Parts: sequence; C-alpha cells; structure tokens
Amino acid sequence: MKTRLTLCLSATIALGLLLTGCSKKDETQSSSASKGKQKIFVMIPKGVHPYYEPCYEGFKDAGAKYGVKTEYLAAKAFEVPQEVEIIENVIARHVDAIAISALDDHGLVPAIEEAAKAGIKVITFDAPAPSSKALTYIGTMNEAAGYSAAEQLIKIMNNEGEGVVLQGGLGAPNLNDRFKGFERCLKEKAPNIKIVAREDEQGKIDITVNKTEALLQAHPNLKAIFGVSAEVCPGAAAALKQQGKAGKVILAGFDDLPDTLAGIRSDVVNFCIAQRTYKMGWLSVEKLLEAIENKPLPKEIDTGVLIITKANVDTYMQEMKKEFGK
Ligand code: BGC
Repeated sequence: MKTRLTLCLSATIALGLLLTGCSKKDETQSSSASKGKQKIFVMIPKGVHPYYEPCYEGFKDAGAKYGVKTEYLAAKAFEVPQEVEIIENVIARHVDAIAISALDDHGLVPAIEEAAKAGIKVITFDAPAPSSKALTYIGTMNEAAGYSAAEQLIKIMNNEGEGVVLQGGLGAPNLNDRFKGFERCLKEKAPNIKIVAREDEQGKIDITVNKTEALLQAHPNLKAIFGVSAEVCPGAAAALKQQGKAGKVILAGFDDLPDTLAGIRSDVVNFCIAQRTYKMGWLSVEKLLEAIENKPLPKEIDTGVLIITKANVDTYMQEMKKEFGK
C-alpha cells in the first residue's frame, strides 16, 4: 500500500520543476476508456509530506477502478502561494477535477472560484476550505477528533500537569478545529491540566525536533506533548530520545506515520489518532465523478478516526483495509 511519493521529489527537482515539490502521474488506465476522453483528476495536498501517501494510494486505486487518470502535485513547502500556483496551473491545463487539502481557508477562495468558473469540479479532502466554492469536504470531523484525543490524554495525565501542543501551520481550519476541540475538552473535563505553550512547526520534522528541545528546556516540569499534526510524534520522539526523556514525558498526537507506530511499540508514544487517509482519497474520486454527473454532494463526509495504542497497533490496519477488500 505504500508508494514512496517522497522519492519522486528528487526526480522532479532533477527535471527542473521549480515550484512543484512532488508530482506523480498514474499511467494505469482502464482498458475500456477510450483515449482522448479519459478524465484527469488531480490531488493537491498541502505540500510534500508522507502523511499524504495513503491518501494518494486511495485516489489512484479508485482512479484505476473507474478509468480516471490521476495525478498528484505537491508544493515543496506548506505555503499558500505555492498551493495556489499549483491550482492555477491545473486550471490552465483544463483538467476535469481537483481534490485539495487546504492549507488555508480564505487564501484559496479565489483560486477555487476560478476553477469552478472554468467548469472544473473541486472538492476538499483532509483539510476543508469552508469559505470556498469547494463542493464538499471529505475527511475527519476535526473538532470532535480533537475532543476525543484530549479525553484519552486526560486519562494518561491523570487529570493534571503541564502540557504543550505542536501544530504544523496555524492557518488550516482542520488543524485549528482539532485544537479547538482539544482545548474545549480540557477546559470542560480537566481544568488542572495547563497548556503552557502552543507552537507552529510548519509541518516539518526538523523544526519539530528543535521546538521540542526548546520546550523541554523552558518547561522542566513538562508532563505531556500533544501533536495536532502528523510530523509531531516522530519529531518529538526523536528529541525525547536524545534527551533521555523517552517514556518519561507523555507523547501523543495525530496520525499513524511509521515512526509514530514504532514509537507506540517501543513505549515512546502513548497513542495516536489514525485518520482514514486511504478512504479520503478513494471517496474523493467517487464524489468527483458524482459531481461531474451533476449529482448533489453533502456539505461534508465524515471518514472517521481510530485511536491506536499498543493494544491494537499491529491489527488496526487490517481493519481499515477490510472495507476496500484489500
Ligand atoms: C493533517 C494534515 C497535515 C498533516 C501534516 C495531518 O494530521 O490532517 O492536514 O497536512 O497532518 O502536517
């Protein structure tokens, strides 16, 4: 199920594409689809990041099933102008449909409107852009997921102590909704837990490592680190190990990157919230096809989350895949 999208970064750079950090075209084409008529659907993540690999796997597999040609275009950095430029490029190419993980809400409004005007169907997956003309959002219900994560953390923290939060970018509504739910739960259920810092690590592991080191210095009584986005557990785990604090400071957060799962197995990470990334990609193709047939789409489609601990770390993936007969 893993495709090394990260590998294509160097290949793309070698081709001299300055903006696009990672692009991938799927040549799998339905034999029944006649050439020239085949639809092109493009997945645009926030930027190059391993979190999106299973999203594109689902997108590509569904594309193969329905005879749609799929592409994956990722900006090098999580920066709104880069994401906008990629959208503008695919509008100019007259692709049929776009699925976007929005780095920002208002910042994407004009580009999504331009796409809609050009007759291109646009939806969001993973991260919504509620102010835009995107036809639906497919992904986690983030406020509720942030709330559930806090409930789990409260139990491990035994209702008290200092915690810090790390987040990959402060502009995306999906991450801010997560934090909102997380914070609300703590206020309602564990007022003795104090969040002493919330830092932006820009979606990067190296920045997460540095920020974690600084936070450990600044807060010697720190009891827990919570990651709102995927790179936090791997980055913070590395910092905790370096400082001999692995297993002594609670670490938990979103997403099931391989290093996070390894951290759960070795008691460095207490739990993670796994989002149904493959399903997000698969449903994106199905809903874009419905949009092309002018069928109405719901405002949002909840793909659900799972809490992963040492108890289910080796079995949950089978559960997730069953749905797609994989
Ligand atoms: C979020 C994505 C984000 C990724 C990497 C995930 O938790 O759902 O929107 O891009 O983390 O930061």
